Amino acid sequence: MRLSLRFVLPLILVLTGFAYAVSPLVDRMILRWFTRDLDIRAVLIANTISEPLFEQLAAGRKAKIGEFFVRITQDERLYAIGFCPGGEGSAVASKSMPAEVRCNDLERWPPGGENALPSKRGPLHVSVQPMANEAYPAGKLVLVHDLSFATRRSEETTRYIFHAFIGLAVIVSLLTVVIAQLSWRGWLAGMRSLLRGEGLLRDPAAAAKMGLPEFRPIARDLQRLVRDLEAEHRARDESQMAWTPETLRAILHGELRGDDVIVVSNREPYIHQRRGERIEVQQPASGLVTALEPIMRACSGTWIAHGSGSADREVVDRHDCVGVPPENPAYKIRRVWLSAEEEAGYYYGFANEGLWPLCHIAHVRPIFRSSDWAHYVAVNRKFARSVVAEARTKNPIVLVQDYHLALLPRMIRKEMPEATVITFWHIPWPNPESFAICPWRQEILAGMLGSSILGFHTQFHCNNFVDTVDRFMEARVDRENFTVSFGGKSTAVRRYPISVDWPPDPALLAKPVEQCAADMRALNNFPAGHRFCIGVDRLDYTKGILERFRAVERLLELNPEWIGKFSLIQVAAPTRSSIDEYQSHEAQVRALAIRINERFGRGGRDLPLPIVLKVEHHDAGQVYEYYRAADCCFVSSLHDGMNLVAKEFVAARDDERGVLILSQFTGAARELPEALIVNPYDTDQCAAALHLALTMPVDEQRNRMRLMRGLVAEFNVYRWAGRMLLDAASMRQRSHLVETGGGAA
Ligand code: G6P
Repeated sequence: MRLSLRFVLPLILVLTGFAYAVSPLVDRMILRWFTRDLDIRAVLIANTISEPLFEQLAAGRKAKIGEFFVRITQDERLYAIGFCPGGEGSAVASKSMPAEVRCNDLERWPPGGENALPSKRGPLHVSVQPMANEAYPAGKLVLVHDLSFATRRSEETTRYIFHAFIGLAVIVSLLTVVIAQLSWRGWLAGMRSLLRGEGLLRDPAAAAKMGLPEFRPIARDLQRLVRDLEAEHRARDESQMAWTPETLRAILHGELRGDDVIVVSNREPYIHQRRGERIEVQQPASGLVTALEPIMRACSGTWIAHGSGSADREVVDRHDCVGVPPENPAYKIRRVWLSAEEEAGYYYGFANEGLWPLCHIAHVRPIFRSSDWAHYVAVNRKFARSVVAEARTKNPIVLVQDYHLALLPRMIRKEMPEATVITFWHIPWPNPESFAICPWRQEILAGMLGSSILGFHTQFHCNNFVDTVDRFMEARVDRENFTVSFGGKSTAVRRYPISVDWPPDPALLAKPVEQCAADMRALNNFPAGHRFCIGVDRLDYTKGILERFRAVERLLELNPEWIGKFSLIQVAAPTRSSIDEYQSHEAQVRALAIRINERFGRGGRDLPLPIVLKVEHHDAGQVYEYYRAADCCFVSSLHDGMNLVAKEFVAARDDERGVLILSQFTGAARELPEALIVNPYDTDQCAAALHLALTMPVDEQRNRMRLMRGLVAEFNVYRWAGRMLLDAASMRQRSHLVETGGGAA
C-alpha cells in the first residue's frame, strides 16, 4: 500500500501540473476560434443589414437608423453597431458604442486581427466590415461583440480539461500500480525460486508459465554470482581456517547464531553396560561414532540414539538423558528405548539384513521382510518424536545419520517445516539397478528427500543416488547444481568426505612408538625383529577379512622367507552377532585363520603364528598402540563408504613410518593415493603389496606417510562437519533472504 502511494502521488502531481501548464494554451486557442466565428458573424450581419441600412441612409433617416441599430443590439452577443460613411455624411452608432472606436481610426481594427477591446463589462471584440452600394457611397460597418461569453466558455473548458486530466491521472496511476504489483509479484516469485535454487533456470517451462522468460538471463547471472561468491567465500575460509573444535564453535555461534544442533543416529557414542556390581562405559566400534564424537564435544548439542546398553536405563535422568563423556560431560545423549521385537525388525532385520547388503557390493543377498519394514517405519517415527521433543526452537539443525534412519528426514520436515535437516549416509550408495531390489525403494528415497542437504563420502555415491532418484521418482533432478526437487522441497546432494580428529588426542600419542612396539611384541610373544601388520575392523563380511588372510597365506607361499618372521594381527570387534550371515562369516574367519596357522604355524618350532585373531572389543587407546607399533596396516574392504581405520592409522604415525595397504573399493582410496592401493579380490596383488610394505625403505615410507598425514591434517573431521554446517548456514541465510523479500513486498 505504501509502495502504491509512493508511486501514485507523484504521478497525480505531474499530471495536474501538466493540466495547469496547458490551460493558458487552451484559453488562447478557444479565444482564437471565437474571434474567427465573430468575424464570420460580422460579415453575415453586414450582408443581412446592408440593404435596409443603405435605404435609410439614402433617405437620410438617421433616427430610423438609430432605432434599427438599437433593435439589432438586443442580440445577446452584439454589444454595439455603427456605420462610418466613406465620403461625406455623418457616422451613426448605437449608444453603447465604446469611445475608443472612432471612424477616423478604424485601421486599429484590421480584418482577421485579434481586435480585443477591454471594458468594464468585460472583453469586447471589434470587427470592421467594408460596405458598398450603387445608391450610396461606400462606408464601413463597425460591429462590437461582447466577448465575455467566450471567456466564460474558455473557463468552463479549462475546468473541464483540468478535471479530465485529474481523472486520467488517477486512472493511469491505478492501472500502472496494478500492473507494477503484478509484475513485482511475478518478479519476486521468480527471484524467490531462483534463490531457493529452483524454477527459472531449471525449469524453463515453469518460467514460461509464470510469464517470466525475460528473467532467465538475469536469473542465470544472479545464480552464477551467488555461487561464485559462495565458492570464493568458502575457498577463502577453507584455505585460511585451521579446522579445530574452536572453528566449529565459531561457526555455530557466528554463522548459525547459536542455533539448536541435534544429532540423531542409531548407535550411541557411550554405552553403559552392567558387569556384576559395576557399570562399565563402552565406546562402540563405529566409524560414525569416531567421527561425530569430537564434533559433539565441540558443539555441546544433543545426541539422540538407541539406548542399547544393559545399564543405559539406570544412568539417565527423567527425560532419558545422560551427560557425556562421563569423566567430563560436554553434551548429552537422549536415549530412545526399543523393545526386543523393534530392535530385531528395525535394526537387525531391515537395516542390517536389508539395506546394509543392498548398499555394499559384497555379494551377500539382502533380505527384505514386510514385518521388518513395519518396525523400521515405527522406530523411525519414534526417533522423530524424540527430535521434536528435544528441539528448543522451531528451526533446529538436525544431523541425521545413516541408513537406519532413512525415513526420518521427511518425518522431521512434516513436524518442523523450518528445520534444516542434514542427512549423512555413511555407507556407499549403489547403482539404480542394485537399489531397485528394495521393495520399499520409493518410500526410502522419499524419506531421504525430506533432507535439506544429503551427504555422501564420494562424488560417485552422489551420482548413484541422483541416478536412482531420476530413475524411480517423480522428481526434478538438476545435475548442474546437484539438487533434487521433490514434493515442493529441494535437497542439495553433496560430497563430504568424512575424516578423523586431527591432531589426535595427545593421550593416544603419549606412549612412544618404540615402547608401543616393545609392548605389542611382549603381549603377542613375538621375538625381537618380528614384523607385523595390523587389521582393525568390525567382524563384518564387507571388510574383506577373509581376503586379507588369503593374501597372508599367498605371501608365505610366494615368499617363504617370511614364515615365522611375519604376522598379521587382526583385531575384530564382534558385531551384529545375532544375524546368520555374521555368524557364518565369523565362523569362516576363525576357520581360515586356523587353517593358515596350521599350514604355516609352529610345526614343532616355537615360531609366532602368521595370523593372530583377536575377536574382542578394543578401546581407542589399545587400537592406537597397535597402529603405532605395526609395520603396516592392511585395509582390504570389499566395499566401504570411507573407512576411517585407514585415516586413523595415518593420524597415529607421528613418526612418519609404517605403510598403509588400502583397498581400491574404499572412499579413502580416493584421498590417500600414496597408500599401496590394492584390489582385495586379487590375492597375488595383495601378497605382493604385503611384501613391498615389509621391504619398503624408510625414506619412501616417510615420503608417503608425510603426504598422507598432510591430507588428513588438512581435511580433518572438523572440516567435514564444518563444511556441512556452513552449507546449512548459507541455506538458512538464503531462505531468510527470501522470507524478508516477501515481507517487503
Ligand atoms: C558402520 C555404519 C554405522 C554403524 C557402524 C557400526 O560404520 O555406517 O552406522 O554404527 O557401522 O555398526 P553397528 O551396527 O554396531 O552400529
